[in-house]
Amino acid sequence: MRKYYPFYCLAALLFFSCNATKQATQQSININPYQYSGNKKIVASNGAVVSAHPLASKVGVEILKQGGNAVDAAIATQLALAVVYPNAGNLGGGGFLVARLSNGQLKAIDYREMAPSSAHRDMYLNKNGDPLFEKSQEGHLSSGVPGTVAGLFASYAYAKLPFEKLIQPAIDLAEKGFCITEREARSFNSLQTALIKYNTVMPAFVKTEWKKGDTLIQIDLANTLKRIRDHGQAGFYEGETARLIVAEMKRGNGIITLEDLKNYKAKERVPHSFNYKEYKIIGMPMPSSGGLLLNQMMKMIEDRNIGSMGFLSPQSIQLMTEVERRAFADRARYMGDADFYKVPVAELISDSYLKSRMQSYNTNKATPSSEILPGKIAGYESEETTHLSVLDKDGNAVAVTTTLNDSYGSKTVVGGAGFFLNDEMDDFSIKPGMPNMYGAVGGEANAIYPGKRMLSSMTPTIVLKDNYPYLVVGTPGGTTIPTSVFQTLVDILEFNMSTEDAVWKAKFHHQWLPDEISIERAIPETTREALRKMGYTLKERGPIGRTEVIKMLPGKKMEAVADVRGDDSAEGY
Ligand code: GLY
Repeated sequence: MRKYYPFYCLAALLFFSCNATKQATQQSININPYQYSGNKKIVASNGAVVSAHPLASKVGVEILKQGGNAVDAAIATQLALAVVYPNAGNLGGGGFLVARLSNGQLKAIDYREMAPSSAHRDMYLNKNGDPLFEKSQEGHLSSGVPGTVAGLFASYAYAKLPFEKLIQPAIDLAEKGFCITEREARSFNSLQTALIKYNTVMPAFVKTEWKKGDTLIQIDLANTLKRIRDHGQAGFYEGETARLIVAEMKRGNGIITLEDLKNYKAKERVPHSFNYKEYKIIGMPMPSSGGLLLNQMMKMIEDRNIGSMGFLSPQSIQLMTEVERRAFADRARYMGDADFYKVPVAELISDSYLKSRMQSYNTNKATPSSEILPGKIAGYESEETTHLSVLDKDGNAVAVTTTLNDSYGSKTVVGGAGFFLNDEMDDFSIKPGMPNMYGAVGGEANAIYPGKRMLSSMTPTIVLKDNYPYLVVGTPGGTTIPTSVFQTLVDILEFNMSTEDAVWKAKFHHQWLPDEISIERAIPETTREALRKMGYTLKERGPIGRTEVIKMLPGKKMEAVADVRGDDSAEGY
């Protein structure tokens, strides 16, 4: 195993091996999927990858070692995640990529799912106008047209290696299997009832009991990946895979057609960039709210000397909560797919507007959300998204966040094709003012329309210092995504915290409605009490996000940190 370790391993906290002895010689690259470890923090000289699964991070690093750049590694890592991390890694979902290339160019690629051509704004309402959440959140009708494979090929324009090299590790992992972690075993076990309910052809995940160290083999998925390898994007959106998706739709009363699949296109967008003190921050534009929310929140704290308030002090939590509240009120009113709805981006980030938003901020007490309406100018979403960060020695930085929405998306696996379909339609506002599955509200800006992309919170982010990559950041977590990225940036840029403290220590979140601060258990009681005295309602919850950060150290060393909240792993060489 030693030879698989990165250049400089600071913390190997995870070790996984299979129940049955397996040969490690059958993979296309130098990784043993039957016995592997993962690192929570490494420092590397040549390149680093952080993702939700050790095998996927290792695949990314192997691709860097073979001469690939950060984009090659990001593509290979995503494909591997589609195999080894099926609750969020995907072929049947969508995502966003933000990149800073070694020539200084900034890129944003939108491969968000889109509403099928026969979707309509009231499709999840019954005849009394009440929402049918079971239709928008699970099963065939909840799926938007998948974008991931188109996104991989759009990203490939900036890659170097032959595509076959990038996809082969994923094919091997699917065909020859890998041993699952304890978390995965628990997750698969909890999925069984839904699998039986929402599938017409029983997928490889159906089993009486999964145990840590069991081998997962996914032959149908391997065959889908081979069709993509052999026919490119058409290997998914046309031919056999498209036929299998549409047949699955027909069996389960879904509405995605062959035409919808053929018409899907990933879109290159102009990244949402802004300056914060000496840094330039690059984020995702609409249809993700992530970049714009982060911009609003960072600018609302910029001149308030938050650094002097201290990490997790009642004062800093209060200030961050109040800016989160105001930004999320705007999200509910103004944000949606800008190809369909005019989002007033310039107004929402103007200095005068953001100053006026903070006029009601009172350092002694909470501002009730009922008093913070969307500003006058012209939800929780899924917790099961996944983020990966990549940085290479030439200064190519890539931040990618992808999702099926809910864990395992719609819970429907395409019969004969082996991948889960998303339930991303629930990220639309299915009824104005009505919270979606995780509490986010929206309105006209995010109403369903054929071909439209549902509003997202995903916030893949790159921070430049002296015009060179300094941080590559992102996380899953639905509506907690922008606030976790916000917190991570404040922790590193303002509190001068170590990268691991910024990633691993307690997080909190406010999203306007409901009017409460969600907090992780580790927030100290003294801080809670001080916040309660100011009038805040606190709600303790489970882990917030799974943040993955790469930070450039002096001497061009790369420090990569994976979140301790999951099996996430940082690898490098
Ligand atoms: N479904 C999670 C997001 O796009 O924000």
